[in-house]
Amino acid sequence: MTLAEPLPDFRLEVHLGRWEFAARHHLTASDAQTLSVGELLALGGPAAREELDGLGLGYLPTWGTQALREAIAATYAVVSAEDVLVFAGAEEAMFWALQELVGPGDHAVVVVPGYQSTESVTVATGAEVSGLALDPAAGWALDLDALAALLRPETRLVAVNFPNNPTGAVADPATFAALADLCAERGIVLFSDEVYRGLELDPARTLPQAADRSETAISVNVMSKAYGLPGLRVGWLACRDRALLERLERRKHYTSICNAGPSEVLATIALRHGDAIRARNRAIVAANLPVFDAFFARHEDRFAWEPPQGGCVSFPRYLGPEGVEAFCHALVERAGVVLLPASIYASDLATVPADRFRIGVGRRDPEPALAALEAFLAG
Ligand SMILES: Cc1ncc(COP(=O)(O)O)c(C=O)c1O
Repeated sequence: MTLAEPLPDFRLEVHLGRWEFAARHHLTASDAQTLSVGELLALGGPAAREELDGLGLGYLPTWGTQALREAIAATYAVVSAEDVLVFAGAEEAMFWALQELVGPGDHAVVVVPGYQSTESVTVATGAEVSGLALDPAAGWALDLDALAALLRPETRLVAVNFPNNPTGAVADPATFAALADLCAERGIVLFSDEVYRGLELDPARTLPQAADRSETAISVNVMSKAYGLPGLRVGWLACRDRALLERLERRKHYTSICNAGPSEVLATIALRHGDAIRARNRAIVAANLPVFDAFFARHEDRFAWEPPQGGCVSFPRYLGPEGVEAFCHALVERAGVVLLPASIYASDLATVPADRFRIGVGRRDPEPALAALEAFLAG
């Protein structure tokens, strides 16, 4: 399959392309606080520095180095290195996998709101796509009955993302298990974007990885979010359908071919110390949340705050009379604080509340950004 329809602008990237590096305060960052190369190498010890120093800058295997695939597989219970295909970010993985999985005549269900490429690439394949809206009135819960009602004989794919971007929602474990079983029974691929997994402050909320749970599921992951290392551009798919991975490896020959060698070495080091890095990032979120709680408690007339259930973004309500779009635009233009208004997460498939904005809680020292926001509110 290939794309039957043109891809629309990626609204989030267009907006961040304008503001991410131009504005003073990036208060909507979707990733955890990053590490420097020096900090990462220090975690790896002298052997890590030697490995990087001695690295030749040739091509790598398209699948990813064996060391990296093994380090990735070690983060799963059942998945082995042979079940892992490495990509340039989660973005490249999703771009090819969605095209491989569905096309004209197929039906797919995508959870809304979500990361735009999941919806836009799936729609552009020419497949029929239904949106399943998470319910804001029920803590953004996934309604499994509503999902089951959307399924058709030609449904090939159900795409979910927990912890969710932008809402910070996490499905409850029983619902997630029932979802995996439902998809497996019907021969539907559960396409599970797990890029925020590991940032849940309550460990009881950490879901199993879909590719461990089910032979027909695909887990999407990346170094960018829970590990805070988006500059590595190392992502992957984990899936026990090896024939599918072989087809996707052929597709990758037409885009990145392979990742950058230094990135794979650094990603391997990071994954070997993954528990420590995720614990560091959870501690940053845990330290930040009281600061955000206190800020929003001071401004209950303007905001209805909802901390994330997992991950490091959330999608609270803006209550001001001018509406969230005007608010976010004035805020970035006059005070240099970037937030993402609800329109960035608009969907053609299901309703997304129009009074929300995305805020990030994973970067250290949010106080100056919140002070600039507070001064703007006072002004
Ligand atoms: C839910 C989700 N999935 C996938 C991606 C893509 O990750 P990357 O840009 O690192 O490839 C993102 C990035 O924002 C995301 O938020």
